[in-house]
Amino acid sequence: MITNFEHIPVLLDEVVNALSLVEDEVYVDATFGLGGYTKAILNTQNCKVVAIDRDPQAKIIADNLKKSFTDRFYFKIGRFSELGKFLKELKIYKVGGIVFDLGVSSYQLDNKERGFSFKLDGPLDMRMSSEGPTAEDFLEEVEEVTLANIIYELGDEVFSKKIAKNIIHHRRNNRIKTTGQLADIIRDAIPKKKSKIDLATKTFQAIRIYLNEEIKELQNGLIAAERVLRPEGRLAVVSFHSIEDRIVKNFFAKCLQNNSLSRHLPELPKKNPSLKILTKKPILPSAKEIKFNKRSRSAKLRIAKRTQFLSTFGEIA
Ligand SMILES: C[S@@+](CC[C@H](N)C(=O)[O-])C[C@H]1O[C@@H](n2cnc3c(N)ncnc32)[C@H](O)[C@@H]1O
Repeated sequence: MITNFEHIPVLLDEVVNALSLVEDEVYVDATFGLGGYTKAILNTQNCKVVAIDRDPQAKIIADNLKKSFTDRFYFKIGRFSELGKFLKELKIYKVGGIVFDLGVSSYQLDNKERGFSFKLDGPLDMRMSSEGPTAEDFLEEVEEVTLANIIYELGDEVFSKKIAKNIIHHRRNNRIKTTGQLADIIRDAIPKKKSKIDLATKTFQAIRIYLNEEIKELQNGLIAAERVLRPEGRLAVVSFHSIEDRIVKNFFAKCLQNNSLSRHLPELPKKNPSLKILTKKPILPSAKEIKFNKRSRSAKLRIAKRTQFLSTFGEIA
């Protein structure tokens, strides 16, 4: 049961401060999880929160929270790339802030039935939602070269070819059904050396990102967010690995280069940035937070503020 799990929210105070909460304003928690950020936002300011999560299990936590914040909290199961559509359904067209806390929650990671963990032996699932192929289905079908590329690109794993080869070799005899089996196949493929992290870490990360289309989701989620933020509205993104952080950084940079208005009105300045970046360097957890919550160690928070200029990606109709 999801209510038996704990997820310690990462960089919580920093995120709540980043949103610069205003009374009666609407904020979006794009990755509700176990509701840590949403609860803190609702307790800090008399505002509203629209929360989204693609994991249907999150609804159990959301339903409980709704009892305490009936008129100030709304929850939607779905992908954050669709946040514009969800807000429209609620007749909300602009918001004061949006937060993304990327990746998986402790509940998803620590529940062996969800199949995300190489430390716990469970069915090889790895889906954040309950839709689409599982990791087991995917590994049964994928071609070796494609798999090697995914592991290299999304896991930054230098032994990607060796790992892909070993996975394909094993699946010829038997379907790979559990996280334990997959972790052993990965570890067997890599030269044994001292490593701070488990040798299966990067490959598990790559398969999870691929299966859940996390890159496309993040790119489209950020675009959707920029479009619905009102001027002065805040965008806060907590990422956990370099691939995610790079996407956020590049997205901010693209919004700085925005010239959507000046193309039509040449007398205006060439650049009309749709975002102002508030964090030149990302905010990192303190040593104290990392000691208390090991999972925060790779977190990076980047914050931006919406300007009055038109959206870099075209306004919503
Ligand atoms: C790190 S957890 C968030 C934890 C949350 N901040 C808290 O304090 O409890 C990330 C959550 O985002 C959800 N998620 C990831 N990608 C998503 C997407 N594209 N659309 C909607 N939810 C997503 C996951 O299902 C997971 O529950």
